[in-house]
Amino acid sequence: MRILLVASAFNSLTQRVYAELRDLRHTVGVHLAGDDDELRGVLRRWAPDLVIAPMLRTALPRDVWSALPCLIVHPGPPGDRGPSSLDWAIHEGAADWGVTVLQADEVMDAGAVWATAACSLPTVGKSDLYRNEVSDAAVEAVLRAVERFATGTFTPRPQSGPDWRAPDRTRPWLRQEARRIDWAGDGTDTVLRKLRAADSQPGVLDDLLGAAWYLHGGHPEPVLRGRPGDLLATRAGAVCRATSDGAVWIPELRRRRHPGGPATFKLPAVVALGDTLPALPDLPAPLLPARDDPPAWSDIRYREDGPVGRLHFSFPGGAMSTGHCRRLLDAYRFALDRPTSVLVLGGGRDFFSNGIHLNVIEAAPDPAAESWANINAIDDLVEAVLTTTDRLVVAALGGNAAAGGVMLALAADEVWCRRGVVLNPHYRLMGLHGSEYWTYTLPRRVGAAEAGRLTGRALPMSAAAALRARLIDRVLPCAPRDFGLETGRLAGLLAASPTAQSRIAAKKAARDADELAKPLAAYRREELAVMHRQFFTPEAPYHALRAAFVGKRPAPGPGGAAAPTPG
Ligand code: COA
Repeated sequence: MRILLVASAFNSLTQRVYAELRDLRHTVGVHLAGDDDELRGVLRRWAPDLVIAPMLRTALPRDVWSALPCLIVHPGPPGDRGPSSLDWAIHEGAADWGVTVLQADEVMDAGAVWATAACSLPTVGKSDLYRNEVSDAAVEAVLRAVERFATGTFTPRPQSGPDWRAPDRTRPWLRQEARRIDWAGDGTDTVLRKLRAADSQPGVLDDLLGAAWYLHGGHPEPVLRGRPGDLLATRAGAVCRATSDGAVWIPELRRRRHPGGPATFKLPAVVALGDTLPALPDLPAPLLPARDDPPAWSDIRYREDGPVGRLHFSFPGGAMSTGHCRRLLDAYRFALDRPTSVLVLGGGRDFFSNGIHLNVIEAAPDPAAESWANINAIDDLVEAVLTTTDRLVVAALGGNAAAGGVMLALAADEVWCRRGVVLNPHYRLMGLHGSEYWTYTLPRRVGAAEAGRLTGRALPMSAAAALRARLIDRVLPCAPRDFGLETGRLAGLLAASPTAQSRIAAKKAARDADELAKPLAAYRREELAVMHRQFFTPEAPYHALRAAFVGKRPAPGPGGAAAPTPG
């Protein structure tokens, strides 16, 4: 079929639907909604059989949905309506949720139902849920709806009830007044629920040290206590703040925008507060806690199970600043000192990595110099993985990865992805040549021609397509909550396999041979020579593309066209 995706952004779910429909051999185009006449033009020229809106913040025009079947993905179960579905579900502590595929209709979310799928809502942030449980359910429902449409005989089930079209059936935006935290009155559970319902956007608006900030992300602190609302400590760039009965860690902050002022963006809390942060104890969590230590939140942790080490890391938005990369490299070195034969990198639920931290770079006094420091720091990490020859390294991607984040994974001996992961193995949309030794690792895996296609076309690919292209080695068909356990189990089997030791020996020999043919340092030097020019030339597209990305503005110029527009 010819299927046109109409979306407000080529976001994670739209990318996943795009990749999965293409895997099924449909011809798929993407149109970014905005101008209704442009949409009409695309429909005339492209003549799709079906329109699907995986993430649409505006209504489709009546003449469009009355002429052509248009299916809307609503991130809520049948009967739920409104623009803040997931926010309300988390805010109210729902444990089960769902996704509905509806026919577009006069009243938003009130059309006939083509398909639904249920999902659970574990206690994680909204965006994490959206990219995991909700995306899984959405894809299941979309594929079922497409199948039903293809039969030509399926009649979608109208939503029933006498007041079905009444506007008061729609739940309103979840506004900041409802999200507001009462530090003196709210307990940790309530504070975390409010933070999770607003994570990663829009954050919870709050007063902090005399200024207005949006708080992003939240994790429980088991031990520290203080006067409610007070800041108690820092860890991994996050601040710890006391609630009425405990404390929470808040990793990121975004300053409230002044009317008419420039866009503000999220930064690690300690970076955002800068000099206004009072003297607080910095309390890093132990990488490998003792058995009776209370469970301490940290963005990097190490665990061991016999011959398998697991270095888990999870950075908001998958963005890795210079500091993140250096801390992760220290942790990696710690892991290398442990007596294991298999080391699993990642294994968390959400983003594996999206490469260098564009927000921290944008906020730096000298963005070019910070870009340079960041790319060198991530390269150091990748180099450490590439030169690990005394054990097998597995990159375990429970969530999506892009750009340098994909290349970080490719440095491992094996790359395992949860089914549902979307990979963007390219840098072009940020106007960069890229580094992370990709000129060594990518062609080695997929061949030079395919490496050229992947980096040149700059399109998202599903885990299944990545496996077919031999970009990755294994797809784990499990639920997000099972990914950690499943990778642990499979890594145990790998460590116990009779060939593990011979693979380690062969790996060392192959690395030595590759080093003789062309040293790793030469790949790095060549990649960084181009990157240096791109970073330190103020007119290079990277700077405008980065500023647009960070400010959430459309990318300027042709280089920034992210969505594969239909011809
Ligand atoms: N630096 C800083 N923040 C980043 C980031 C990066 N490299 N990559 C993603 N993020 C943030 C986004 O700003 C967004 O923040 P928000 O939740 O506050 O809105 C969040 O992570 C999710 O990203 P978003 O773009 O909304 O998700 P998506 O699924 O639609 O798209 C990507 C995912 C990875 C394709 C897209 O984020 C991207 O192109 N990132 C940049 C990759 C890159 O060029 N890295 C630098 C070169 S190594």
